[in-house]
Amino acid sequence: MKTRVFALIGDPVEQSLSPAMQNAAFGALGLNCVYIALRVPSAGLTDAVAGVRALGISGLNVTTPNKIKIIDLLDELDESANSVGAVNTVKNDRGKLVGFNTDGDGCIRALRGRVGSLRGKDVVLLGAGGAARAIAFSAVKAGAGLTIANRTASRARAVAEAIEQRLGSTVKLIGLNRAELARALRKADILINTTTVGMRPRIDETIVTSSMMHRKLLVNDIVYDPLQTRLLREAKRAGAEVLDGLGMLVQQGALSFEIWTGKRAPIRVMAAAAKRELKGRCP
Ligand code: ATR
Repeated sequence: MKTRVFALIGDPVEQSLSPAMQNAAFGALGLNCVYIALRVPSAGLTDAVAGVRALGISGLNVTTPNKIKIIDLLDELDESANSVGAVNTVKNDRGKLVGFNTDGDGCIRALRGRVGSLRGKDVVLLGAGGAARAIAFSAVKAGAGLTIANRTASRARAVAEAIEQRLGSTVKLIGLNRAELARALRKADILINTTTVGMRPRIDETIVTSSMMHRKLLVNDIVYDPLQTRLLREAKRAGAEVLDGLGMLVQQGALSFEIWTGKRAPIRVMAAAAKRELKGRCP
């Protein structure tokens, strides 16, 4: 039987948890599939995608710096990738390369595991980069009320305008100053950090502190290096519920797996593999 090959393309890819996670999932379902990480800098992307076609590679995950540039090299975009304007998953559908974006829905699936439906929930999103844009679209589609807080106002405005144009929903915009954030958080149900603040090596930094949180708030940091960020420590101090970055990481990978195989992803197996891999790195 032919082995189906899947790959992550980006630069860097050495630190990715996806090979461990996807290969564990393939193994658990007894699928004859392998997943490898391939370093593809921006300059090599066109050749790499031609290679995917020539070699009959069955699917891709796409990461920095290729998520936007790859769009022009694909045959079709799913709605998820089209609205966000970035691709993190490609399916080779008998020679037709179709782009998807599972980042936003991955985050929402992880949140749903904790709070159920997001309809009517008040979400404050820190950041307005690529991950934030994907999550913002999925959150609004899921029926949440969204406030975006970003350092650079123009980037937040661009995300809000895209959402208004495509989904017809209004997004609130605020700055990162403590007073404005504290006010927005007082009535919020969910806080999501998509900024790089708190990521190794700047592990002692946080935008929001415990005094700005309340006990009914769910605080989700999509940073997973480290898993216990300063933001999540602040949330615990405030008695709030926490969801670490493994949640979204596993769910976005699970959605990719389901797009490629048409089978339900073994979430627990994938989470355990990612955790094992992370532990092996930072004892
Ligand atoms: P990604 O695509 O992974 O989401 P990105 O596009 O580089 O990453 O976005 C990083 C986010 O972190 C941005 O929202 C950035 O804010 P700006 O738009 O103002 O650049 C935010 N960010 C990074 N460092 C920050 C800092 N020290 N304080 C506040 N926000 C920061």
